Amino acid sequence: MFKLDRKLITIGMTLALSTTLSVAAASTACIPGVYKSKPGAIDGGVIYPRENGVYTAYRYNTQSTKGVNFGRTPTANEIKAWDVDARPDGKGLPDGEGSVEDGDELFDAQCAVCHGDFGGGGKGYPQLAGGNQAKDKNGVVITLKNQRIKPGMDAPKRTVGTYWPYATTLFTYIRDAMPYAHPKSLTNDEVYALTAYILAQNEIKIDGQEMDDEYVLNKEKLMKVVLPNKDGFYPVIDGPEGPANVKAFFADRAKNIGMGTRCMKDCKDPSSGPGEKGLPAKLMKIKYEMKDVVPPYAFGKDLPPETDAGSVSKGEKLYDSSCKLCHGNDTMGAPRVGDASAWAAVMKKGMDKVLVNAIKGTGGMPPKGGNTDLSDADIKTIIEYMVGASK
Ligand code: HEC
Ligand code: HEC
Repeated sequence: MFKLDRKLITIGMTLALSTTLSVAAASTACIPGVYKSKPGAIDGGVIYPRENGVYTAYRYNTQSTKGVNFGRTPTANEIKAWDVDARPDGKGLPDGEGSVEDGDELFDAQCAVCHGDFGGGGKGYPQLAGGNQAKDKNGVVITLKNQRIKPGMDAPKRTVGTYWPYATTLFTYIRDAMPYAHPKSLTNDEVYALTAYILAQNEIKIDGQEMDDEYVLNKEKLMKVVLPNKDGFYPVIDGPEGPANVKAFFADRAKNIGMGTRCMKDCKDPSSGPGEKGLPAKLMKIKYEMKDVVPPYAFGKDLPPETDAGSVSKGEKLYDSSCKLCHGNDTMGAPRVGDASAWAAVMKKGMDKVLVNAIKGTGGMPPKGGNTDLSDADIKTIIEYMVGASK
């Protein structure tokens, strides 16, 4: 009797402990500000251990804390951790490489849900490829430029190929911001692969070479990319001529910004409309109206309603929440889901007997796994899932 009690107590404690642990783990993962203190110091992503109560190589503040100070000099690692930009000429890009083919696979798995197949859009998120890229004899994407020169012309679809001036930004953007829900989860090699894939979808050539599936992109090659609309942005603000270009651009208001004279007072005087004969228009008309303005993607933040359909079966869901704790590994002495021979041995008894054992408990197996809210039918559904997943 004593033995049995002890066993039950042990199971009870194990259940209680593992529940507490999993709750604790879940809450540390979710609640900001609650975290396990680590016995080390983080210096720009590098962790230094603590020994004998002091940080080893790292000293986080050597400055006097009396009076007013101007902060401290950042450590070399801290600067490195912040210094992540890449210039248009490629300076700052990390080492690494990735092929169009690898990028294709990654894109399908992690990006296409939002950006559409081949980056073609259509899902309410930015379209990354497949826009109108007609070019003039200088290689400038005409449709972007023409919208100013020829008012009324439709704007092209805004994509990486039509709109971005530099490809190095594509690398840093993906690395730092995508995938949207968990940025910074990709390795540099994966980001090179995705960059390669998106450039290939935009039919970008590097050094005159088309980017086929086997094409491997790295830092040196990315630096050579010239995007079609690089010179389609004006005024040209880069370089020493920048300020002069900007001044000239705004000086020619009639051509570049609008028509008529600026109106500062009584602008709504109906007699000053452009339709009135002989009278100069007081209102400045916008010459090049933007027509292809896309409204924000969405304002709603609700999660889609949970449905029973979907890839995870009811059995798997219930198993995950009530049984996996013990049956997901060998440590509890429970037949592990995935272990074919263990389950073959269990099922030799026949489903009826096994079901009774699971409902009433047997050995270290508590009745219904400790979750008495489960119906007998639920238990059967779970066992069927466990058996199916252990073949
Ligand atoms: C959950 C949806 C979602 C997923 C998944 C996603 N993105 Fe995005 N992506 C967005 C949104 C939203 C924006 C616009 C963000 C903004 O403008 O602030 C964006 C913008 C971009 C842009 C810039 C587009 C432009 O022209 O401005 C690129 C490039 C990009 N994503 C690449 C990727 C890649 C590569 C992946 C996969 C690793 C990915 N995205 C996964 C939602 C997503
Ligand atoms: C606290 C740990 C624990 C939990 C939780 C648990 N099990 Fe078990 N289970 C065991 C152990 C240990 C055994 C092996 C018992 C033995 O053979 O003595 C076992 C055995 C089984 C068996 C085989 C019974 C037999 O006749 O050999 C089935 C079926 C089973 N569990 C189903 C479930 C289901 C369904 C759940 C979730 C509702 C669940 N278990 C949750 C520990 C657990």
